[in-house]
Amino acid sequence: MKKYPLIRGLGRYVPERVVTNAEMERMVETTDEWITSRTGIKERRIAAPGQATSDLSLEASKAALGAAGMSADELTHLFVCTLTPDAYCPPSACIMEEKLGVRGKAAMDLNAACSGFLFGLDMARAVVCMTPAAKVLVCACDVLSTRTNWADRRTCVLFGDGAGAAVVTSGDEEKRPGDAAIIDVRLHSDGSLGHLLTVKGGGSGSPLRLGDVVGEDFFVQMSGQEVFKHAVRNMVAVCEEVLAAHGLTGADVDYFIPHQANWRIMEAVAKKLGLPLEKVCATVALYGNTSASSVAIGLAESYQAGKIKPGDKVLLSAFGGGFTWGAVLLEF
Ligand code: ACO
Repeated sequence: MKKYPLIRGLGRYVPERVVTNAEMERMVETTDEWITSRTGIKERRIAAPGQATSDLSLEASKAALGAAGMSADELTHLFVCTLTPDAYCPPSACIMEEKLGVRGKAAMDLNAACSGFLFGLDMARAVVCMTPAAKVLVCACDVLSTRTNWADRRTCVLFGDGAGAAVVTSGDEEKRPGDAAIIDVRLHSDGSLGHLLTVKGGGSGSPLRLGDVVGEDFFVQMSGQEVFKHAVRNMVAVCEEVLAAHGLTGADVDYFIPHQANWRIMEAVAKKLGLPLEKVCATVALYGNTSASSVAIGLAESYQAGKIKPGDKVLLSAFGGGFTWGAVLLEF
């Protein structure tokens, strides 16, 4: 029987501070009714001042290592998937390595926007297939509150901060209850549509000079309706692609964990895949769109809440800036 790479431990972390829609109403001209009916979001978590991507990642990673029954020292690779790193340099993965109290690992950041966790899982899968002794920590984290224009009601109501992590090992390890086999991953990008969702300012394409004041392009900007359409179309297509490659359809999926950007998107995707809404993970009401971490948080929470049982086929799907999108088929 084919041995698939394994996810051996899952963890998640969200900051303590809850920002409700009522609080958003006091910040910008919006209403709980508008936010809830358009997005399904009721509240979001926002990092404390000084709490950076490496800090949230550290908590999620410690939880994932605990669930895997592993120490940080056993890891060979640390990936942090993020579009909001602590700094350009050093990478958040290296900062987290130091905070975990270990040295000499292969640590790096990777940025695939909201699809980061899926891209990270695929990189981890490649590493453990090449090097079966490798043990890879994939942490997806964004502190998008630091790149949110809190005066722009079109975007500021949508996002929250959070982190989710998974430990990936080769299929040579014995599969234990709670482990998930990574059956397949399908990823895509389309740079021609990148302008529809951006966080530009401060990058080498829009550099800041000493004394500059940041402008609106320093923050996330999005053509919401355009992104909505592409998100639905591409998530459906990539889910069908990965399922068809294994002779499956939506009816064979036991649990679906889509990117938590907007409940209406998740509902539309599930409907097109023929999935009943009871099988759809929904954390969006509590956390908003946590960018790269949303699928990782959803996976960790769904497993911990007992929504995923041994033998279940679990489908992950994400869509984000780039555009980037993908689907992962897991079997617990
Ligand atoms: N409160 C009240 N009114 C608002 C708000 C708000 N917070 N935000 C916008 N509006 C207004 C607009 O100004 C507009 O008013 P107008 O008609 O007078 O101009 C009206 O509401 C409608 O705005 P739309 O943008 O058309 O609203 P829409 O129904 O498309 O919902 C939303 C907007 C929620 C952003 C939706 O388009 C969406 O979810 N898009 C996809 C987001 C997504 O999937 N992102 C995934 C990737 S994210 C990542 O990678 C970081």
